This record gives sequence, structure tokens and C-alpha cells, in this order.
Amino acid sequence: MKKEISRKFCVAPMMGYTTPYARKLYRILSRKSFLFTEMIAVKSLIYSKNRDSIINNDFNNPVALQVGGSEIKDLQIASKIALDYDYDEINLNVGCPSKAVQKGSFGACLMKDKILVRNCIEALQNDKIEATLKCRLGLGRELNYDFFEAFIDEIAKSGIKIIYVHARNAILSGISPQANRSIPPLNYNYVKKIKTRYPKIEFIINGGINGLDEAEMLLNEFDGVMIGRLIKKNPFLLKEVDNKIYKEEKKRIIDEKVIHKYFEYINTKVGFESIFRLLSPLLNIFFSVPNSKIYKSKINDYMKNKKIKLIEDLLVKFVSESKLI
Ligand SMILES: Cc1cc2nc3c(=O)[nH]c(=O)nc-3n(C[C@H](O)[C@H](O)[C@H](O)COP(=O)(O)O)c2cc1C
Repeated sequence: MKKEISRKFCVAPMMGYTTPYARKLYRILSRKSFLFTEMIAVKSLIYSKNRDSIINNDFNNPVALQVGGSEIKDLQIASKIALDYDYDEINLNVGCPSKAVQKGSFGACLMKDKILVRNCIEALQNDKIEATLKCRLGLGRELNYDFFEAFIDEIAKSGIKIIYVHARNAILSGISPQANRSIPPLNYNYVKKIKTRYPKIEFIINGGINGLDEAEMLLNEFDGVMIGRLIKKNPFLLKEVDNKIYKEEKKRIIDEKVIHKYFEYINTKVGFESIFRLLSPLLNIFFSVPNSKIYKSKINDYMKNKKIKLIEDLLVKFVSESKLI
């Protein structure tokens, strides 16, 4: 039996950011948000000696393991690994436009071959956890609803229950992955329209959501929302999610203790993992706030000298002065 899990609010998979450490911080801030790993190439998942540290789940459920790949046998193995590591979902990345990913025959370029994508989803399916898809609307500079509909028509044959749509095209050459998150125009209407065709499939809308008020409004039209960059810039946004999105009545008090709790956790990892990776979920808050230069240079200095306690104190000061919590 599969668990009933709400995906009303999802934190988007982000390479280099949604690490096991970031997920720990996100979980401290929100009990309910649905989390994702970074995309992990199935070959690394299967063969890496560091598998444990790459996909360690550490009781941060509900959480999905996102994979990139298109070889059926590998995907079948990946699905078993997701179960072994107690993930709630395995998700196939069909949205990443990077050249490296195209070379490995996965990511957004798979939208060219909808039958292969259906076969991949079928390879990931098992009777314990959901096998889901994250895709774009289409490929290239021109939006084309018929292409999107034909793609979903094929995928729907797999019996898929949940599809996350980054609601813009992917442009596979001439622009960077970063530009691929802003240049192709968003079109939420395509996702609204496909939902009327497949009312039983949960469609989670992603791309350009700018705040929790907007997210809440979008829930009138979609089964869930997925947010990436906003949380990368300021993970403390998550402290409102359980009340505002999941309507939990009991309001938890989130204050600087959150930072101390996170540092307690990462202190046990120092020496096994790079300081930067341990701190990165919190460092972005400095980069997105004006006048943060002094803090940045101090942090760099402390990181070089592994002065973790000083970084913790600085973060608490910064966060309370800038009224982030
Ligand atoms: C730094 C970064 C890394 C990303 N890595 C992934 C990834 O590993 N897998 C994926 O499906 N999408 C990835 N994305 C795309 C996001 O999941 C999301 O679709 C995109 O940022 C649009 O949502 P947003 O406007 O809320 O940021 C990444 C985005 C960023 C900013």
C-alpha cells in the first residue's frame, strides 16, 4: 500500500542545494512541506561508493528521490534503492536542459521521445511508492499546446498519478541552464488545460512563484505548488508553510533556536563533509540581502579557518538584525 501524502507545497529539486543537509534545515522549519533530493544520475546512484552520503534520507520524510537516466534496467534498480532508503517517491527528471545531461541522454531532451519516457516511468513503478515525473511544457522557442498534450497523453498510459510541470519550454542549445529558468515564457494555462483532460492526475505547478500568497492562490487551480529559487534565497520562508498552506492550527514559534538546532546537526558532520556543503543552505540568505558584504567576507574567513561557532553566532546576529525570523 502506498502512503497518502500531501504535495500541496513542494521544495523543488536543486542541484548543489537540496542536499541532505538543506533538507534537514527545511524539515526543522516545516514539518509538512514535501521535499526533493537534487537530481542524481542513476549510474552514480547505482555505482557510487559514496551513495550513502549522497542520498542519505535521515528521516526527512516526506521526500522524493529525483533521478536522471533513461536506461530501463538502471531505473528499475534505482526504484529499489529509493525503497531501501525509505524515500516516499521516485521522480524522473525530464526538465534539465544542460549539455552534460543531454550527453547522458536524460533530462529535458527526453521530451523528444515520449514513448521512452513512458517506459522509464513504468520501470520506476512499484507497489510501495509513487513513480512521478518532472517535465517542461515542451522544447524550443515556440510554445505548442498540442505537443504538450500528446506528451502527457503518452505518459498517462503508464497510470502515473503525479506530474510536476516547470511551466515553460526548455531550449536545448544556445542558452545556459540558468537562462532556461527565465527566458522561455511561463504558461500556467497549459497545465490548467491538461488538468481538465486528466482530472485524476495530480498536477503540481512550478516556475516563477514569487511568494506564499501567490502559492496559496494557485492552490485554487492546481493540486500543489513547487518552489525552488525563492527558498534557495531564503529558506526561512518555510516557517510559514505549515500554517498558511497546510492550515495547521498550532503555530510553532520559530526563532534563532532553529539555527542552533541546525548547527547542532552539522557539527556532527564536520570532518566527513565539506564545510561549504554543510553551510550552503544558510549562506544564500547573505547573498540575497543588500549590504551583506561585510558578513560575506567574515564568513569566508571563518570558513577557511573552520571556525564554525563564530559562523553560527554571526548568522544568528544577521538573521535577527535583518528580521528574517
Ligand atoms: C541551482 C538550481 C539547481 C536546479 N537543479 C535541478 C535539479 O537537480 N532537478 C530539477 O528537476 N530541477 C532543477 N532545478 C530547477 C528547479 O527545480 C525549478 O524547476 C526551477 O528553478 C523553477 O522553479 P522556481 O522558479 O521556483 O525556481 C534547479 C534550479 C536551480 C535554481
